[in-house]
Amino acid sequence: MCGIVGIVGRAFVADHLIEALRRLEYRGYDSAGIATLERGRLVRRRAEGKLANLAMSLRDEPLGGSIGIGHTRWATHGRPNETNAHPHATARLAVVHNGIIENFRELKAELQGFGIRFESETDTEVVAQLVSREMDQGLGPEEAVAACLPRLHGAFALGFIFSGYDDLLVGARHGAPLAIGFGEVEAGIGEIYLGSDALALAPFTEEITYLEEGDWAVLSRAGAVIHDIDGGLVERPRQRIVAQAYQVEKGNHRHFMAKEIHEQPEVVGRTLAHYVDLARSRIALPDALPFEFARLSRLSIAACGTAYYAGLVAKYWFETLARLPVEIDVASEARYREPPLDRDGLTLVISQSGETADTLASLRYAKAQGQHTLAVVNVPTSTIAREASAIVPTLAGPEIGVASTKAFSCQLTVLLCLAIVAGRARGTLSAERERELVDALITVPGLMAEATKREGEIEVLAREVSKARDVLYLGRGTSYPMALEGALKLKEISYIHAEGYAAGELKHGPIALIDESVPVIVIAPHDAIFEKTVSNMQEVAARGGRIILIGDAKGAAAAGLETLATVTMPDCDAVVAPIVYAVPIQLIAYHTAVFMGKDVDQPRNLAKSVTVE
Ligand code: M6R
Repeated sequence: MCGIVGIVGRAFVADHLIEALRRLEYRGYDSAGIATLERGRLVRRRAEGKLANLAMSLRDEPLGGSIGIGHTRWATHGRPNETNAHPHATARLAVVHNGIIENFRELKAELQGFGIRFESETDTEVVAQLVSREMDQGLGPEEAVAACLPRLHGAFALGFIFSGYDDLLVGARHGAPLAIGFGEVEAGIGEIYLGSDALALAPFTEEITYLEEGDWAVLSRAGAVIHDIDGGLVERPRQRIVAQAYQVEKGNHRHFMAKEIHEQPEVVGRTLAHYVDLARSRIALPDALPFEFARLSRLSIAACGTAYYAGLVAKYWFETLARLPVEIDVASEARYREPPLDRDGLTLVISQSGETADTLASLRYAKAQGQHTLAVVNVPTSTIAREASAIVPTLAGPEIGVASTKAFSCQLTVLLCLAIVAGRARGTLSAERERELVDALITVPGLMAEATKREGEIEVLAREVSKARDVLYLGRGTSYPMALEGALKLKEISYIHAEGYAAGELKHGPIALIDESVPVIVIAPHDAIFEKTVSNMQEVAARGGRIILIGDAKGAAAAGLETLATVTMPDCDAVVAPIVYAVPIQLIAYHTAVFMGKDVDQPRNLAKSVTVE
């Protein structure tokens, strides 16, 4: 889950390495470091904590060199201090690494047997020492890397530079993404880049090549030579990246999360425009799917975190609109539970990043079982997007805040479109109902914009929430996964303990928690089961619980309950309510965390892209 970058340039590269790392910080921010070659001599600078600390140290004492590698870390092996920060180095080389070397203990013991000493607690230093030892035995840098790669177990991406070789960068991909970027060529001398993703490389290049599983590449100012897992020379396609699509600025907002919440009406609108045929009031997927919904026996969904909750909402939609049985699992369980998947079934994976290790593994498992696979994914160049049999993209644009917001609402939008298509194909949804749903869907961007107007009152309410030690979120039907999502959002950025519950489950245990100190946030649009939720609110009120109701005016009036606060939502069709109600849920978490002075965009211990299992 770390970010890696490498540059073979024509001028000093330290500033560009920092710029690329800034774009990779979403992958981890426990420490950062760079190494360059100054007149052939390896030099490195590392700093604990955010990239800003490294940047400051480089401002005071810059590093020269026109070749270098950089790293931003999410700690797996060893505490997040300077000693464990990458690049790891020997006298011969420096290496940056994303992923985990699972057999590092055995390798370390073997190397220690040769008298080699280690300074860090990381698995990565083993790679540095292993390759160095091969070089000590007489191999050249490229041969030494090639000799060591088969000895490394686990999922990883690596970038190496070598003392004395100022035109050589070696990269290797095994289970973690890695791209090569091609820069400008002047007088026959080019610039070349290596990076964990296109986002990192977008400021410097418009053309990239993704390495495939098992590939390793030798980069120099003359270009890239790519080898596959068997060592043979291979060509990998070049793709153009549109730099605009990789803009990562906060604009007028204080945090990326705020910007991304406010972007939702626009990006949900863009996503809808991709899937809705307005002239015919129906959903029209731009690309044909390689399976027929009508023939499916079952839908299995696997995803993690917020994407999993989007899948849980979708379960209700697929089951009610398309009468398609749905099984859903968090991907980290699905992959090891090895569920029986029949050939008539479809596995749907959902992921913003398209790189989440467990979700990717679930996708691969389903493929190995001979299932159709479909991915709802936000990064179109990601591994999941490339490996799924078909993709339905969310068009949310880059999401930088660690807390997922606009990706979630776009996932919901795409999933509802898919459920409608499935309903039509399976004959469970009439043309008239489809028209009604499409009419409801196209009002969503406007309703979300309306919902953001509640921000002032939510900001006041967030001060109350910030005083709590525990918060309960309740909902029924599709509002139940929304309750889970609300609780996740609050936990991850404010560090307040929060739980989401199906409102009907309250009396089976969690009601014991209710007292005046526990705010109970009830998500309840005025839908068919609203009355049932009102009964649960009564149970809370009877025990002195303080209710915060997120509902529409009709529901608030019908409930007739005294609440700590009511966030009055615009009226909307109950089916699309989860997409609209995402806004207040996100704003409550955001303003609570801001009021508490937390680091909203980069909460402790987390990373945006979870590429380790
Ligand atoms: O990139 P993915 O959608 O696969 O990520 C899945 C989760 O890691 C992610 O949704 C995480 O739970 C978010 N930080 C939640 O806000």
